[in-house]
Amino acid sequence: MKILMVCLGNICRSPLAEGVMQHLSKENGLDWHVDSAGTGNWHIGEGPDRRSTRTARNHGIDISGQVCRLFRVSDFDEFDRIFVMDKNNLKDILGMARNEDDEKKIKLLLGDKIVPDPYYDDQQFEPVFKMIEQGCREIIESLRQN
Ligand code: 4NP
Repeated sequence: MKILMVCLGNICRSPLAEGVMQHLSKENGLDWHVDSAGTGNWHIGEGPDRRSTRTARNHGIDISGQVCRLFRVSDFDEFDRIFVMDKNNLKDILGMARNEDDEKKIKLLLGDKIVPDPYYDDQQFEPVFKMIEQGCREIIESLRQN
C-alpha cells in the first residue's frame, strides 16, 4: 500500500500524518510506503515546522528528516490512497485529478471531519497530533482487511 498525506504547507499536518502512519503501519507489521506533500509552494525544501517535530518527538516519532515538497499530478500514479487534511486541500487535489480513478484515491484523513491548520496556534499541535493518530489507526483497520 502506498499512501500520500497532503496539507497546505507540508510543514505542520501532513509531516505529522506521514510520521504517524509510518510508525503505526510498521508497528502493525505492514510494509506500507508513506509520503507527504503540500498544495502550497512557500516551504519547498524545508524541514517540518519545529512545533510538529517537537510534538512528534514527544510521542517517540522522528520526523526531522522529512523535506517539504509540492503535490504533483504524477502522485496519482505513484500512490494508492491520497489523504487530505481539510476541505481546501480536498478541492485543490480534486481539481488536479485527471479522471475518475484519480478522484477515487482522494479522501479526507478523518473521513467526514477536518484536521484544522495549527500554523497560527501553538496550542493546536498536540490536539492535531491526536486527531491524526486516531485517523491513521482507523485507516489501518479498514485498509488492512483489503
Ligand atoms: P500545514 O500548515 O498546511 O499543516 O503545513 C501550514 C503551514 C504553512 C502555511 C500554511 C499552513 N503557510 O501559509 O506558510
